Amino acid sequence: MGRTRTAITSILFAAASVSALADAQVQEDAAAERAAETESRMTNEERTNLTLGLMAMEFAGVKSPEGSIPGAGYVPGVPRLGVPALRETDASLGVTWIGGARGDGATALPSGTAQGSTWNPELIELGGQTIGAEARLKGFNVLLAGGINLMREPRNGRTFEYLGEDPWHSAILGAAAVKGIQSQNVISTMKHFAINPQETGRHFMNVKIDGASLRESDLLAFEIAIERAEPGALMCAYNRTNGPLSCGSKFLLTDVLRDDWGYKGFVMSDWGAVEALDFALAGLDQQSGAQLDEDLFFGEPLLEAASSDPRYRERLGEMVRNILHAIYAVGIGDAVPEKTDEEAPNGGEVALKVAQEGIVLLRNEGGALPLSPDIGSIAVIGGHADAGTPSGGGSSRVMGDDGPSIAIPFLRDGGSGFAALFDRMYHGSAPLDAIREMAKDARVTFRDGRYPSEAALAAAQADVAIVFATQYQTEGFDVPDLSLPGGQDALIAAVAAANPNTIVVLETGGPVVMPWLDDVAGVVEAWYAGARGGEAIADILFGKVNPSGHLPITFPASLDQLPRPQLDGAETVEPGFLGRGEPGQTLEADYTIEGSDIGYRWFARKGEAALFPFGHGLSYTSFEHGKLALAHGDDGITARFEMRNTGERTGADVAQLYLISGPEGPKQRLVGFAKQALEPGETAAVDLTLDPRLLGEWEEGGWHVASGEYRFALGHSAEALGAVQSLGLPEIRLDASGHPVVKN
Ligand code: GLC
Repeated sequence: MGRTRTAITSILFAAASVSALADAQVQEDAAAERAAETESRMTNEERTNLTLGLMAMEFAGVKSPEGSIPGAGYVPGVPRLGVPALRETDASLGVTWIGGARGDGATALPSGTAQGSTWNPELIELGGQTIGAEARLKGFNVLLAGGINLMREPRNGRTFEYLGEDPWHSAILGAAAVKGIQSQNVISTMKHFAINPQETGRHFMNVKIDGASLRESDLLAFEIAIERAEPGALMCAYNRTNGPLSCGSKFLLTDVLRDDWGYKGFVMSDWGAVEALDFALAGLDQQSGAQLDEDLFFGEPLLEAASSDPRYRERLGEMVRNILHAIYAVGIGDAVPEKTDEEAPNGGEVALKVAQEGIVLLRNEGGALPLSPDIGSIAVIGGHADAGTPSGGGSSRVMGDDGPSIAIPFLRDGGSGFAALFDRMYHGSAPLDAIREMAKDARVTFRDGRYPSEAALAAAQADVAIVFATQYQTEGFDVPDLSLPGGQDALIAAVAAANPNTIVVLETGGPVVMPWLDDVAGVVEAWYAGARGGEAIADILFGKVNPSGHLPITFPASLDQLPRPQLDGAETVEPGFLGRGEPGQTLEADYTIEGSDIGYRWFARKGEAALFPFGHGLSYTSFEHGKLALAHGDDGITARFEMRNTGERTGADVAQLYLISGPEGPKQRLVGFAKQALEPGETAAVDLTLDPRLLGEWEEGGWHVASGEYRFALGHSAEALGAVQSLGLPEIRLDASGHPVVKN
C-alpha cells in the first residue's frame, strides 16, 4: 500500500490568511497615498512626461531616447522627486534579444504553450522570478510580460506566446508568472487587454462578442489573474472590441477595469495602438512606442488640453497616480537599475525544468517510448534537429548571448531593419547532440528531411526513426491552416512507411493536424522548448524524465471542427500586420458563434471529439483519480479527491476537475486542477475551493449561480472523464467585483 499524504491544499479562491490580506491592503493604501503625494508636487510638464513612452530601439530612422538602453520602450522619470525612468523590455519568455542590440542575450524560457502545458503554477512562478531577475540585471524595471490572451483562434501567429484556451488555467498560470516577475521589483504587464485573437488585420479588425460571453471567457481570465497577481500595468490590445479600439475603449478601460474591478495599476497602450488624444479620457494612462503613432498625443497635445480642459487636467493627475501606484507598489526603486550583461545564475536550469514539464506525450503505441540507451541505431530526421530548437518570432523572441544557432530569413527586408525580428531562429541546444549523448553506443544518422526518399532510406536502416516536425509562428503573421508546412506530412508518411517504429517530435507554436497519426508509434509535442530544449527532448525520449505535460489547447482533427473553418480575413486582408490594410479597410470577427465556449467547451457543445483534447497528456506510469467529494458550506464550494500512481515508476499527474452540467443543462468548464508528483503506489489527497464565477453566468451586471444540481467529474483530459458527482447549490449572486450580493 503506497503512502497516502494530504499533499495539496490548493486553495484557489481568495483564501489567503486574513493577516496576509490585511498586509496587502496596507501596502496598497501606502502606495496610493505616496502616489497622491508625489503627483501633487509635479508640474504638468512632469506629469505629461510620465504618460509618454517612446520606442527604445533604432530602426527606420527612429532614434532611441536619451537615457534609454536598447529595448522596447523608455519613459523619462522625474529625478527631482525620485521618480525613476521606466526602461521597458519584452516579454513573457524572457528579456528579448532585439537582434543583439544590447550586446548580450538572456535566458530563453520555453514558449507560452510549453509553459501552459506544465499546469504547474509554482514552476511558472519560478520562471517569472528568473526572467524578472534578468530584466533588472540587464538594466530594465518594466517587463512587458504576462501574455494571457485565450487561444480563441488556434491559427493566431502569437499562440506560442500565450498559455492556453481556458480562463481558469490561463489566470492561475499567468498570475504565477507575473507574481514571480514582480517579486524581483520589476513591473510586469498583463496583456493584451482584453481580446487579441489574431495578427491578420490586428490594427483594424473588430471583434463582435456579447457582453456575457466576454465576461465569462477573455475578461474572466484577466479578472482572476489581476486579483491574484496585482500586475503593475496592463497593456491594451490593438484590435477593436464591439466598435472602439481596445486602447480607446471606455467600456474596457474604465467601466470594467476601474469601476467593476477596482484595478489600481496603470494601462499602457500597445506599440502603435493610439489614434487620438481622447484615449486618455477613455482610461488609457500611457501611450507606448509613440513614434509609431500618428502623433505623440500624450505629449504636447495632452499638456495643452490639461491646461485648458478640466476633464484632461483631472485625468492627467489620475494617469500619473496610476503609474506612480505601480512604481511604489512593486517597489522598483527611485532610479533605473544598473545595466550589466549578467544572466540569472539558475536561468538555464529553470528553462530546462520548464521544458521537461512542458513536453506532452501525445501517443505511445506498444511502449515505443521511452527509448533504451542501448538501442542499436537511430535515424534522426528534419526540423533542423542538428542545429537546435525553434523560437517563435516577433517582439517576444529571446536568444542567448551567442544569438541564434541558425537564422532563416522570413521577410524580405524592406530596409527598415525591422524584418530581422521575424526571421526563423533556433536556440543552440540541438536535439541530435542530446540524443547522441543519451545513446552513446548507438549508430545515429541525421537527414535534414528535404527529400522524403532519402529520409525513408535512413529510417529503413535504423531501429527507430525520430522525425522532428516544425510549425513556425511569429507575431505579425497567422498560420493559414493547421497543417505542418513545407511537405512535412509527406516526409513523416514516407518515414513511417519505411519504419513503423517512427516517433514524431512536434516543435510547433500551437495545434496541428496529423494525417499520418495512425502510422506512427509515438508522438511528442515539444513546442518551442527554449534555451535547453534539445536536452529536455532527449530526457523525455529516453525516459530520464517521465513526461507530465498536458495540452493547454485543443488539437482539432480538422479545421471543420472549429467555429470558423477559415481564418477571419483570409480572403480580404493581406497576411501580416506590417500592412495596416487599405485606408478605411475593416474586418469583422463574429465571436458570438462560440461566445465563451472556447476550445474544449466548443467541442463539448458540438459533441465533437478532438484529435487530442485539452488536458491530454500520457506518462510512462499510470494514474487513477478517486473519491471525489463535493460540498458547499462556510468554506465555499469545495472538492476533495485522491490521486494515485498505479504504475511502476515515479511520475507527475494533472488531475482536472470539470463542471459538466448545471441546472440550465450541459456545460463543460474547468473549475480546478492539481499537479502532483507521486511515487509508485502513492496516493495524495487534494482539496480545492471553487470560484463560483466558473459555475455561473454573467447576468444583469453580476454573476448568477442558479440554484439546482451541478454535476462534476474528474478528468485526465476534457474528454477522458471519470465518475460524475452531483452537488446541489443554492442561488449565489456576486456583484461585478466578484463580491457576494447579500439579499436583504
Ligand atoms: C508589440 C506587441 C507587444 C509588445 C510591444 C513592444 O507589437 O504587441 O506584445 O510588448 O509591441 O514590443
